[in-house]
Parts: sequence; structure tokens; C-alpha cells
Amino acid sequence: MLRRLVALLLFLRLSEAQTFPILLNSTSTLTLAVQPACGSLASENFTEVNAGINLSAIRTLVTFGDSWTSTGSNGTVPLPPIMHPPLPSAGARNSENRRATNGFMWSERLAADFNAKLLDYSWGGAIIDNFAYNTTSPLNKTGAQRTDFVAEARLFFLQGRFLDALVPSQTLYTVGFGINDNGQFSIAGGDMEIAYNTYVTKLGQLQAAGAKNILIHGMYTSHPETDLLQSRIFAYLAASRAANGTNVAFVNLQRLFGTIAATPAPFGYTGNPTCLVSANTIVGGCADPDRSVFYIPGHPSMMTHGLINEYTQAVVKQCVGSS
Ligand SMILES: *[C@@H]1O[C@H](CO)[C@@H](O)[C@H](O)[C@H]1NC(C)=O
Ligand SMILES: *[C@@H]1O[C@H](CO)[C@@H](O)[C@H](O)[C@H]1NC(C)=O
Ligand SMILES: *[C@@H]1O[C@H](CO)[C@@H](O)[C@H](O)[C@H]1NC(C)=O
Ligand SMILES: *[C@@H]1O[C@H](CO)[C@@H](O)[C@H](O)[C@H]1NC(C)=O
Ligand SMILES: *[C@@H]1O[C@H](CO)[C@@H](O)[C@H](O)[C@H]1NC(C)=O
Ligand SMILES: *[C@@H]1O[C@H](CO)[C@@H](O)[C@H](O)[C@H]1NC(C)=O
Ligand SMILES: *[C@@H]1O[C@H](CO)[C@@H](O)[C@H](O)[C@H]1NC(C)=O
Repeated sequence: MLRRLVALLLFLRLSEAQTFPILLNSTSTLTLAVQPACGSLASENFTEVNAGINLSAIRTLVTFGDSWTSTGSNGTVPLPPIMHPPLPSAGARNSENRRATNGFMWSERLAADFNAKLLDYSWGGAIIDNFAYNTTSPLNKTGAQRTDFVAEARLFFLQGRFLDALVPSQTLYTVGFGINDNGQFSIAGGDMEIAYNTYVTKLGQLQAAGAKNILIHGMYTSHPETDLLQSRIFAYLAASRAANGTNVAFVNLQRLFGTIAATPAPFGYTGNPTCLVSANTIVGGCADPDRSVFYIPGHPSMMTHGLINEYTQAVVKQCVGSS
């Protein structure tokens, strides 16, 4: 399996052409019925901005995050999801190629829209730093470690440069954490200072390695400790722009999902907000996942991933001049 993957990767690397075609049906059954609320990079708290990112120039997309982004490829080019027959997580329990949805992720759609190659380092359940929470800390006997931003970045620094030329002006780095950080923090507490320090340390290391375009996905829900974290990350982005000329964008998924929750109909959602009763079976699930906000509990449907892509692009296109 590993040898096959390496062969595939070598092939992808060597056959790197002007465009990187991905077979993906990007037809949407939904409508993006909300627009970004663009703010200023000088804002005290996080807001939606794009200072300098030009998606048309992007040929490589490198993603860090959790199950809202993971294609299950763990640091390689993703293989397509299993869509027929329908399985929970597009084959999660039957293959290594797991996604917490019923098809393509937002990142795969974004990459396809710009003929970009996707290198995905995100992993389900991931947090920023295991040391930040009592439930995950290696210093705590009862702590159970997860994949964290530290591990994802470590793998990228180890092999990313062999998978792609990573031309700075043509490579977009996206980062999305917080859902599981809030989850673990809520269980037994932690130290958000550690999470913040690790987050900006990893961004700084990416910048030192050549990252010129960084886009952050803010969480889809609001919590005091993660809101504050996001505002501090936002301030780091502003400082990066000033100090290093890094192109930066911040997308607030809470605006998209808050609007969907308040008024689902204009988006085209009908029936159950969540399609499946659990991540383990499609038995008892809805008949039309294309009309559900979430597929498995807490995880967007493939069509909602399409909206996340559209919304991300709307912020990048509309929130310009906010530097
Ligand atoms: C693409 O997806 C749409 C919406 O789910 C569907 O109606 C259409 O048949 C699909 N097209 C192909 C070629 O699979
Ligand atoms: C920033 O957010 C904090 C709460 O997180 C709030 O108290 C403060 O008023 C906000 N500042 C602005 C300018 O909105
Ligand atoms: C964005 O990138 C494209 C492709 O490289 C280029 O043609 C276009 O001029 C760029 N736009 C801006 C505003 O720099
Ligand atoms: C991802 O790959 C790295 C390096 O091969 C490995 O250490 C790690 O365990 C993998 N993560 C998962 C969740 O499989
Ligand atoms: C270990 O974690 C538990 C909760 O999971 C917490 O109550 C306890 O204080 C922690 N111990 C240390 C030494 O951090
Ligand atoms: C863990 O729990 C203890 C006491 O419950 C607390 O003092 C400590 O700050 C917590 N955080 C971490 C990261 O262990
Ligand atoms: C500027 O880039 C360096 C790496 O070249 C990085 O370590 C540092 O954190 C960056 N500073 C800011 C404010 O982004």
C-alpha cells in the first residue's frame, strides 16, 4: 500500500503540468444565501478580511485542520471519496480514505476550481497542541493524545517539499482548528496560552519555510475561549502582513453557519438539519443528504462543503482592500 502510494505520488510529482484535473461533480443543490461581513485588518477582534491573496494564482493548496477538512490522506494528495454505494463518511469504516461527509470536502472543491493540487495534512479530532488540555496532555496520566497542529506541521516539514515545488506565490496554506480544542477545554480545562503560542509558532515556521499566503477558517460556533484565541490569531495575521508582507485572509464560518441555522430555507435546506443518526451507519438516515446541513452529527454534508468553498471564495474576492 505504502509503495503504491509512493509510486502514485512520484507520478503526480513528475507529471505535474500546468493544470491538475480532478474529477469532481461540483453541481450544487444549494444557494449561498449569505454574504461575508468584511472588516478591517486593524480590527481589535477577528473579522473577515483578505489582504493580498489572489486565488487565481494558486496552484497548490496545503491544508491543516480537523475532520472539517480531512480527506483522510494524512499529508498526501487525496484519493477520491467512495460515493457509491453510500457509506457513512464516504467509506470511513471501510478504507483509509476517510472523510467525515458523504463526498468531496470544501478543500477539494476549492483546489478543483483553481486546478490546484491539494496536499492535505488535516486529521479528524485534531487540536492545536496536546499539551494545552488536561484531557490530552502527555504530562497527565489520564491524558489521551490526538493528532495536533504540531504533528501535522512536522509531517509537512518532513515531506511536503518532496511532494510539490511549493512555489511561494502559487501556494495557499489554510489552517482550521478550534472545534476539538473547545471540546477538550470544556471537559477538564486547559491553558489557551499554550494553544495560542503553538498556533503562532507553527504559522511562523510555515512563513520561515516560504509560506506567503495564509488563510484561516474561524470556527462555525462561538465560545469565549476560542473567540479570544481567534482574535489573537487575527492580530498575528495583521502583524505578519506588516512585518513580513504575508498575504492573509480570515474566513468566519460562524457567520455562514449562524445564518444557515437561523434561516435554512433560502439556502435550499429542507427537512432534518443532520442526515445520519450516527457516524457508523446510514440506517435510519435521511433520504436526501443534499438537503441536510450536516451529514453525520456535527459534520457538514458534501453540499454544505460546497457552500464552505463558495463562502471562502466570497471572502477572498469581496473582502479585499481591507489591509
Ligand atoms: C452532479 O450532481 C447533481 C446534483 O447532485 C446531479 O443531479 C447530477 O446528476 C450529477 N451529475 C453527474 C454527471 O454525476
Ligand atoms: C472584542 O471582543 C470582546 C469579547 O471577546 C468584547 O468585549 C469587545 O467589546 C470586542 N471589541 C470590539 C471592538 O468589538
Ligand atoms: C491574480 O493572478 C492571476 C494569475 O496569476 C493574474 O493574472 C492576475 O493579474 C492577478 N490579479 C491581481 C489582482 O494581482
Ligand atoms: C500521519 O502520518 C504520520 C507520518 O507518517 C504518522 O506518524 C501519523 O501517525 C499519521 N497519522 C495518522 C492519524 O494516521
Ligand atoms: C489531569 O487531568 C484531569 C482531568 O482530565 C485533571 O482533573 C487533573 O487536574 C490533571 N492533572 C494534572 C497534573 O494536570
Ligand atoms: C489542568 O488542570 C489543572 C487543575 O485542574 C489546572 O491547574 C491546569 O492548568 C490544567 N491545564 C493543563 C494544560 O494541564
Ligand atoms: C515573520 O516571518 C518569520 C519567518 O521568516 C516568522 O518567524 C515570524 O513569526 C513572522 N512574523 C510575523 C509577525 O508574522
